[in-house]
Amino acid sequence: MQPLDRSDQYQDQTGFIDVKKLIAAYSFDEHVQRADDYFKSIENPWVHQLRKPFHEFQDSRATLAGFAAVLDVAKLRAGHRVVDFGCGTGWLSMALALMRCTPIGLDVSQEALNIARSAVDEHPLLRTLDIAFDVIGETMIGLEDASVDRIICFDSFHHVSDQATYLKEFHRILKPGGLAVFHEPGPRHSASKASQEEMANFAVIENDIVIEDIAQIAQAIGFQDLRLAAFTDTPILLDMKTYLRGVERRGGLGFYHQMGKALMAQGYEKRVFVMRKAGETDADSRFPERLGAKVTVKAHNFDPASRVLSAEVSVKNTGNGLWLASGAAAGAVNLAATVVQADGTQRSEAARFPIAPTDTPAGMEQLVKVALEIPAAYGEAFIVELDLVSELITWFSEQGLSPTLIHQVP
Ligand SMILES: C[S@@+](CC[C@H](N)C(=O)[O-])C[C@H]1O[C@@H](n2cnc3c(N)ncnc32)[C@H](O)[C@@H]1O
Repeated sequence: MQPLDRSDQYQDQTGFIDVKKLIAAYSFDEHVQRADDYFKSIENPWVHQLRKPFHEFQDSRATLAGFAAVLDVAKLRAGHRVVDFGCGTGWLSMALALMRCTPIGLDVSQEALNIARSAVDEHPLLRTLDIAFDVIGETMIGLEDASVDRIICFDSFHHVSDQATYLKEFHRILKPGGLAVFHEPGPRHSASKASQEEMANFAVIENDIVIEDIAQIAQAIGFQDLRLAAFTDTPILLDMKTYLRGVERRGGLGFYHQMGKALMAQGYEKRVFVMRKAGETDADSRFPERLGAKVTVKAHNFDPASRVLSAEVSVKNTGNGLWLASGAAAGAVNLAATVVQADGTQRSEAARFPIAPTDTPAGMEQLVKVALEIPAAYGEAFIVELDLVSELITWFSEQGLSPTLIHQVP
């Protein structure tokens, strides 16, 4: 059934639409029905929606730059449980899954979610990954309290009819220390030509994002540290002299003037911002800045007959985060041993040794037994390089910690 046309309640004689009145003119279910009708009318989602973010040149450029800003601000890590709020046909959820997060795409439109689900189910890799899609109602998100690490609203929050209600829900479902990140238009969005047309033709909500109002609501709920990202999605082309003077910091007012103008122009039309729930959760080995270790070889022995090098290695967590239990999951910490030819010309692939089947808190020491078969090609004199790895995140040596070496000489 077609939702009733109540445009007389929100459109004045000049045709201008007041978005607040449009929101009030329809019930939540009617707004949802319009979103659903839109997605239902799509004949082939692969023409546009499912090509996102590579759907068209102009828009893709802005979407990708916005996504890059969101990735940075969200401080995402592999293994994070991330809500993609207002996911539509799901491109962001799919991207997050490819980056080894666990996305939960939420939308009011079951039709949009059906398109997203079938695209995932047809994809050879995505269908093997953990991606959930779920429909949401007017006031509640069907997720447990303190159960997600991040929430991302990508061009969706300005479509909701009640921003305060969803902000409360975001705060409820976020883990302590969790972040909610928004990529949205600016404070005059509803008055723009494109928004006015959308609202006139389809009665969809194209609300303004008034950061001062959102900040006030967020603070009252308990969010902290609201920050806005200044960035521009448009490269600023400069002549060589202006560019070099600017980047080499030898002055160059022209450079800063043009950069400033570009940032201000975009900052008005687009709002990327982040807020944090109080508390700290990001304190484990998925966070490279938390890693520190002392690796000491207690004893080692090479048996030339079997070509096995055995070692007893003490590994101490000297960082300020918990090491996740050894294994293959994101952030699991393992000891890795690489055999290196004495003259440095050849390296083996690193063999992994579990440190502990359970988490290792900061300050704790573990004893690891290493038994490594040395290929004949390495002869009798070789080096074994011991490094630690936080799986899918980083090698400890990439964080400035030198590997520990065992020098084997005949
Ligand atoms: C412009 S689309 C953006 C979709 C997606 N984030 C993307 O980047 O393609 C806005 C989405 O918000 C959804 N939406 C509208 N009202 C909503 C609400 N109250 N709660 C959650 N999603 C909503 C729509 O169904 C639609 O999928």
